Amino acid sequence: MLDIRITKTEHPKEKPSGKLGFGKVFTDHMFIMNYEEGKGWFDPRIEPFHNLSLSPATMVFHYAQEMFEGLKAYKGVDGNNYCFRPDMNARRTNLSNKRLCIPQIPEEDFVQAVTTLVSVDADWIPTEPGTSLYIRPFIIATDAFLGVAVSKTYLFMIILSPSGAYYESGLDPVGIWIEDDYVRAVRGGMGFAKTGGNYAASLIGQEKAHNDGYAQVLWLDGVERKYIEEVGSMNIFFKIDGKIVTPMLNGSILPGITRDSVIRICKDWGFEVEERKISVDELLEAQQNGKLEEVFGTGTAAVISPVGKLRYKDDVMTIGDGKTGEISHKLYETVTGIQLGKLEDKYGWRVKI
Ligand code: COI
Repeated sequence: MLDIRITKTEHPKEKPSGKLGFGKVFTDHMFIMNYEEGKGWFDPRIEPFHNLSLSPATMVFHYAQEMFEGLKAYKGVDGNNYCFRPDMNARRTNLSNKRLCIPQIPEEDFVQAVTTLVSVDADWIPTEPGTSLYIRPFIIATDAFLGVAVSKTYLFMIILSPSGAYYESGLDPVGIWIEDDYVRAVRGGMGFAKTGGNYAASLIGQEKAHNDGYAQVLWLDGVERKYIEEVGSMNIFFKIDGKIVTPMLNGSILPGITRDSVIRICKDWGFEVEERKISVDELLEAQQNGKLEEVFGTGTAAVISPVGKLRYKDDVMTIGDGKTGEISHKLYETVTGIQLGKLEDKYGWRVKI
């Protein structure tokens, strides 16, 4: 158990008013904990939100030894504050840490740090429909050294951001660009880890997509550029001929927590759920035969995001007349219903703070 020292701000900021975007506003406090080789993690503390002072030689700036997580806190309909499956973020943190040679963090310490910080800034949890307090834990390598090596010192920090929908289109279906040139990750690389490098690699595809009027990019596998992997900020699901199909976790795809929850819910609803390889050709064929019934993305930030259009080279597939599909809609209502306490949480996913 961490002994967290709390220093409250003497200058609370004004809360945002009006429509909240995503990740632009930050709360009054942040969590910080240091690591030194031989000493372990130490000095866990909550301080007023502040800038960092780091040497320009700090390793994370040069070789990107870092990881991050994303989860959310909600104001439940019963007035209590809740988090959604924080234990899964703690577990995934250590998966990412292992791949990035960052020291492990006890899972219970991760969860304690998150819930303590959220309690301190609980009055920042927004209550308008579709909003939540986005929680961003992250770890950076802090040795001031230009050699390529594993850092001996780190900072683990958590910041909070009251946020609305990730996409500007809100819950309206998004258009997705299937990238056939650049790739995001390969098996044996770090595609499964939540680390900045994966997102840096994805920017060029996202730019191409945006320049053509698409909201996001869908990545294909890095070897044959044939099989569907994931979207820039979410996992992807298809309803093909009545079955729910999603790419299997093959080492280059992020093991999404919303992905895991959606698979569980769909199975409980009686759907056959297949986690397997899906080729673009299979999608094109299903579309031509009228069997590609729905497409949606899942993610902490994106929640459930219906996809109305998929572009691959010269083909543009319009899904379900470009409107939100029935399953996407029902899943959104169910996942957010559990998160907000509107629905019974038979899975034990909602954690009271
Ligand atoms: C999340 O869904 O929490 C993410 O981390 C995606 C993203 C905003 C990069």
